[in-house]
Amino acid sequence: MTETILITGANRGIGLELARTFSANGWDVLACCRHPEKADDLQNLIADNNHVHSYALDVTDQEAVRRLAVGLKDRPIDILFNNAGIFGPREQGFGDVDPEAWLEVLRTNVVAPMKMIEAFIAQVTAGQRKIVASMGSMMGSIADNNSGGYYIYRSSKAAVHMVMKSLAIDLHDQSIISVVFHPGWVRTDMGGSTAPTTPQESAAGLYRVLTGLTTSDSGKLLTYKGEQLPW
Ligand SMILES: NC(=O)c1ccc[n+]([C@@H]2O[C@H](COP(=O)([O-])OP(=O)(O)OC[C@H]3O[C@@H](n4cnc5c(N)ncnc54)[C@H](OP(=O)(O)O)[C@@H]3O)[C@@H](O)[C@H]2O)c1
Repeated sequence: MTETILITGANRGIGLELARTFSANGWDVLACCRHPEKADDLQNLIADNNHVHSYALDVTDQEAVRRLAVGLKDRPIDILFNNAGIFGPREQGFGDVDPEAWLEVLRTNVVAPMKMIEAFIAQVTAGQRKIVASMGSMMGSIADNNSGGYYIYRSSKAAVHMVMKSLAIDLHDQSIISVVFHPGWVRTDMGGSTAPTTPQESAAGLYRVLTGLTTSDSGKLLTYKGEQLPW
């Protein structure tokens, strides 16, 4: 039976490449993004591949999340991938932190993944693989923080790491695997043009790791190459 992945932020960057990679491997892709009608690259992918379907979703809009979950209530989902994320303002060093901008990053990078998983837990439970995954970051690793700064982004990713770890414990009895990823430093709008890893390499690695996960991986922070990182 065809497997299904739901991806947020699937219109550009790593999310778009994940949609391309999973659909190229025969998966059905529920590609969510804020404005599907303006997402030309995603629409081109849909035109080439009838495994990809787009859905309008701002992940911070709780009512929209609920409506989508109701609309897809009979659809088993093998992997729910919370990819959508924002970096926040460029200036976020000591003395520069804007509280409203910080809250917006937390709403997108932390609250939204949790509320997505709550909203879609029945569909994931009905899937074969039962995987919930979110995009974290090496920048959210406390153990790896040797350079400071970036209070807004770092704290949001550290928080989503903790969310995914708690979910691994709380959803263990439902056989759900909860993991969080560092996708590499990736050449996207967020990663910038000097990043060493292409979105294609990152997505290909994430595909290999995601499709090889077992219950023993639940609760881990993993790179797109499958290495475990320290919290
Ligand atoms: N690039 C890197 O080096 C790197 C490293 C570590 C972690 N990450 C993480 O990887 C994920 C993808 O990053 P990327 O590099 O592909 O970034 P990107 O090119 O900036 O893309 C971000 C994606 O998230 C979507 N998004 C943001 N806020 C949203 C919202 N409220 N609702 C729905 N979609 C929303 C964007 O949609 P719009 O087009 O509508 O804005 C876009 O599709 C993020 O979580 C990021 O933090 C990236």
